[in-house]
Amino acid sequence: MPRPDTPANSQWWRDAVCYEIYVRSFADANGDGVGDLAGIRQRLDHLVRLGVDALWLTPFYPSPMADHGYDVADPRAVDPLFGTLEDFDALVRDAHARSMRVMVDVVPNHSSSAHPWFLQALADGPGSAARERYLFRPGKGPNGDDPPNNWQSVFGGPAWSRVTDGEWYLHLFAPEQPDLNWRHPDVAADYEQTLRFWLGRGVDGFRIDVAHGLFKAPDLPDVTAGSSLDLMGPRMVPVPMWDQPEVHDVYRRWHGICADYDNDPVLVGEVWIGDPRSVARYVRPDELQLAFNFGLLFSRWDCAAYHDAIAGSLRELGAVGAPTTWVMSNHDVQRQASRFGPGEVGQQRARAAALLLLALPGPVFLYQGDELGLPEVHVPDAALQDPIWTRSGHTIRGRDGCRVPLPWGGDVPPYEFSPPEVETWLPMPTGWGPLTVGAQSDQPASMLELYRRALALRRAEPALGDGPLHWQSAEHGDVLDFVRPAPDGAGVRCLVNFAAEPIGLPRGQPLLSSAPLPTGQLPADTAVWLRV
Ligand code: GLC
Repeated sequence: MPRPDTPANSQWWRDAVCYEIYVRSFADANGDGVGDLAGIRQRLDHLVRLGVDALWLTPFYPSPMADHGYDVADPRAVDPLFGTLEDFDALVRDAHARSMRVMVDVVPNHSSSAHPWFLQALADGPGSAARERYLFRPGKGPNGDDPPNNWQSVFGGPAWSRVTDGEWYLHLFAPEQPDLNWRHPDVAADYEQTLRFWLGRGVDGFRIDVAHGLFKAPDLPDVTAGSSLDLMGPRMVPVPMWDQPEVHDVYRRWHGICADYDNDPVLVGEVWIGDPRSVARYVRPDELQLAFNFGLLFSRWDCAAYHDAIAGSLRELGAVGAPTTWVMSNHDVQRQASRFGPGEVGQQRARAAALLLLALPGPVFLYQGDELGLPEVHVPDAALQDPIWTRSGHTIRGRDGCRVPLPWGGDVPPYEFSPPEVETWLPMPTGWGPLTVGAQSDQPASMLELYRRALALRRAEPALGDGPLHWQSAEHGDVLDFVRPAPDGAGVRCLVNFAAEPIGLPRGQPLLSSAPLPTGQLPADTAVWLRV
């Protein structure tokens, strides 16, 4: 199978721009209102023109879809909703022919409750060998009516559900996502088979879901006051359900498996830990190559916050020799254009943030729709699908607002995502005509053209991508200012003005700016790349 043309230990991922495809919402080829693998194939040229190096596909495996595919019933097959294994092979072939790599998502912390192992565990009953693959326990209190400990599910409510014979099982997410017992040899062996299955089909790496999960402290102790189960926030307190030392051996083994393949596959961990020092342990030289670094995603639009997030992660990950990844959004958080502020302010800052992100050293992860400046959508209550909405007793709306299908063209829903008149799995809002790929293409002032130009420059400039970053001593406290030196001396300086007022623009030829530059000035909420 042809592959992007690079030697085996190219470390291609050290400065790759990876694009997250939320498969349900990218493009719908078969007209059922849900995105699919054939749809992605049809739209690959958008990604080529955008200029990304790699694609990360969210789970497309057979699943009851309780968490939209993150509840996997068979990790080595394709759900008919998304297509067939032949569609997958064809997608990999077509992406490789266009010099784009393909990463798939693996979900080792839990399976679906429809996985044959879980069904067998239910059928075989307490004390059976089949129960050992999960975390079944008797309850506490009279008749065992209370859960075995006080852990809460990330999606709300207790992390335990009771089955009809009286035992309880652990699910850190939805009840349909029972946690696997990683101390059981079958679990480890089966996952290694899964990695080899997809590597054999040509994939270039894995995004590892909840990579800091897998192992739980052996006696499953209660969490004490002050610790938190908040997966989506910075969390510094050690907790018994995450970040246990045994997990590192798993990644050492996976590292070894990937080393058997000649395309230099990458392992990228979703490690939701606030402290970069703990994250750094996952990317020691014989473990994962990369871990998502959520520092920027958690930072409010503030110069000091951004500076500290960038400098802190470069320091801690640099100490173990790993590249720092940069992430501002994904399918679990509010769209950045809305996070940065309302309406035009949010758009203006999202443009500046894009130039900042793409000027940083190391791999960048973009989420589909960032390149269109899509805002968070207020999905009507009746249409909400995220399990968080029901599990929180209809108090937390969840993540659907960033998962609405992509608009490709036209003026009315479904904007060529699906054939006309088809109802998409999440409703698409009216008013998105100007945001479609078609409407933004070749419009010099559009978000899409900003991304295209920035990605083309990032690829062409030896100073950008992997390499050093030198902070400039900022003359103004509200300006982020750094230089990316090139080996030949012609570097790129990036400035982002977080102040409310314009600042004087330093000397240097502007290569690209996120907004027009009045003579000699860098306006508020604007970023520029200068040739130095
Ligand atoms: C990860 C995924 C999220 C999913 C959860 C449980 O955080 O990104 O979408 O709900 O894991 O698998």
